[in-house]
Amino acid sequence: MPLLTDPLTLGTGSILQNRFALAPLTNQQSNDDGTASEHDLHWFEQLAAGGYSILTTAAANVQPNGKSFAGQLGVYDDRHIPGLSAMAEIAHRHGALASVQLHHGGAFARQDLIGSEALVGPSDDEDTGARALTLPEVEQLRDDFIAAATRAQRAGFDGVELHGAFGFILAAFLLPETNRRTDHYGGNPEGRSRLLREIIEGIRAGCGPDFHIGLRLALSGQNPHLPEVRDMVAGFLERDLVDYLDLVVRSLDTRVEVGIHSGELLVDLFTDLTRGSTLVGVSGDIMSAAGAQRALDHGSDFVFVASGAVVHHDFPQRVLADQAYETPRPPLPASFFRDQGRSPAFIDYLEESLGFVEAH
Ligand SMILES: Cc1cc2nc3c(=O)[nH]c(=O)nc-3n(C[C@H](O)[C@H](O)[C@H](O)COP(=O)(O)O)c2cc1C
Repeated sequence: MPLLTDPLTLGTGSILQNRFALAPLTNQQSNDDGTASEHDLHWFEQLAAGGYSILTTAAANVQPNGKSFAGQLGVYDDRHIPGLSAMAEIAHRHGALASVQLHHGGAFARQDLIGSEALVGPSDDEDTGARALTLPEVEQLRDDFIAAATRAQRAGFDGVELHGAFGFILAAFLLPETNRRTDHYGGNPEGRSRLLREIIEGIRAGCGPDFHIGLRLALSGQNPHLPEVRDMVAGFLERDLVDYLDLVVRSLDTRVEVGIHSGELLVDLFTDLTRGSTLVGVSGDIMSAAGAQRALDHGSDFVFVASGAVVHHDFPQRVLADQAYETPRPPLPASFFRDQGRSPAFIDYLEESLGFVEAH
């Protein structure tokens, strides 16, 4: 079994010094125009010093109308480059690789943050009022994901992670319920995953073989389309389409609840797939040394630390120093987060949206 301290090589040839990746963590600290703030840089510096081999930025929107969080980091304009460059430099100074998470909120963008622009998605959505993108708009979305990747590269990042999870636009294109398009970006699984594939191909063509591409997908044991998701992932792995997958599960113990795989461990269903050079990472309740090692024992190549990093930004170093280490479990007192240098905006977000902070 691999150990958490073992290095790994990405398909690009870049080396991950250990098995800890920082998961994307929205922290609502960026300036209103999407440029990185001093708080962003301070938080990234804390994380980078914590021992991860690869750091992912918070979800960064690739178009203004994809903005889904106040204080969201942007990557849709060259004015974002200086702040992003500072973040890449921080990661590299600490010996880590760095990815920008490329995001568009789609129907879950926030109208109060995108002004007069329309909420959009693959198809009309009665619940949110989002309207279907026209064909030229889908092509523009694809091109803007690719342009955001080349911008990240110009800023000094080693690669990008595509946000294909949690119902945001790339995830919405994959699902038949949210993608009812009748053009070649809808229909069968091949059509629904076309946008994602074209983005990946465009980034490869624009950024070259040394620039890594990761893909985040969220897996649910209750998803009736799980066999289709598994087939898609198998196809991606067969063709080494991306350099890594970041698979989000609720926990390593989550089991499939519907369909032909009922009762099986969700993670195993994906880590058992034959793979070539694509690395597979798992995100979900990695909050202890034992939990991180268990993910590797279940066939994951590396782990994405999220809540664990919010609690202790130096999660990897703590794990490596103590095999019995576990993070305290939120909710925790606001003073706990303040003492560790989290900004007021970040603490508000942790309190209001995520329940990480104890009621006073
Ligand atoms: C504060 C916070 C911010 C998050 N921001 C993002 C984000 O920007 N993009 C994303 O894909 N997931 C985001 N997530 C989800 C995490 O990356 C992770 O997949 C999820 O929390 C499960 O891992 P955990 O149980 O270890 O927290 C966020 C989670 C937290 C707690």
